[in-house]
Amino acid sequence: MSATNRANHKRNANDSYPTPSWCTEAIVREIVWTSDSRVLEPCCGDGAISRVIEHVQWVSHIEWCEIQMGRDFLEYDFFGERFDFVITNPPFSLAQEFVEKSLTLANCVIMLLRLNFLASGKRKEFWEKHPPTAIHVLTKRPSFTGNGTDATDYAWFVWDTTGRQKHGMFWI
Ligand SMILES: C[S@@+](CC[C@H](N)C(=O)[O-])C[C@H]1O[C@@H](n2cnc3c(N)ncnc32)[C@H](O)[C@@H]1O
Repeated sequence: MSATNRANHKRNANDSYPTPSWCTEAIVREIVWTSDSRVLEPCCGDGAISRVIEHVQWVSHIEWCEIQMGRDFLEYDFFGERFDFVITNPPFSLAQEFVEKSLTLANCVIMLLRLNFLASGKRKEFWEKHPPTAIHVLTKRPSFTGNGTDATDYAWFVWDTTGRQKHGMFWI
C-alpha cells in the first residue's frame, strides 16, 4: 500500500511497490516470535518481505498469495488452514479487505499502512470493529519507488489476539 500521493504520480498496476528491507527488519525486531511460526504473506510481490522473514530463526513456513502469480488472496480458499502471523504491505486500494480477510486466518495480523489510513470517516466502522492492538510508526519515511520519499507517513499496524505481542504506540 505504498507509494506516493503526488498529483503527477501514476500508480503501478496492482499497487506493486516492494517494501524496503529496513522497514521489515524494523518490525521483525518488535515481534514476539514463537518457535515453528507459520507466516502468510498474502500479496508477496517479488518477495521483498518474505526474503527478510525467511531469515527469522523461529519461522518454519511462509505461505504466499500474489495476484500476478495467479493467487488472488481475496478469492483464495485456505481450506481452514491457519497461520501464526499474516505480514504484508497490502495494495492500497484493497487494504481494508486484506485486513478483514487476514483476521479470519491468523491470531496476529501485521500490515504496513499509511498513517492517514486511520483518519478516514469511511473506515470509522471498520476501526471501531477492529481497533489495532499496536501501531509501530516508522520514524523514517520509506521510499517505495527508488525516487526518494513522498509526503506520506507509514506505520506497521498490529492486530493481536494472542496477548503475546506488545500493545500500544511505538516509534521505530
Ligand atoms: C504494495 S505491493 C507489496 C508487495 C509485497 N507485499 C511487499 O511488501 O514487497 C502490493 C502487492 O499486492 C499484489 N496484489 C494486488 N491485489 C492482490 C490480490 N487481490 N491478491 C494478491 N495479491 C494482490 C500486487 O500485485 C503487489 O505485488
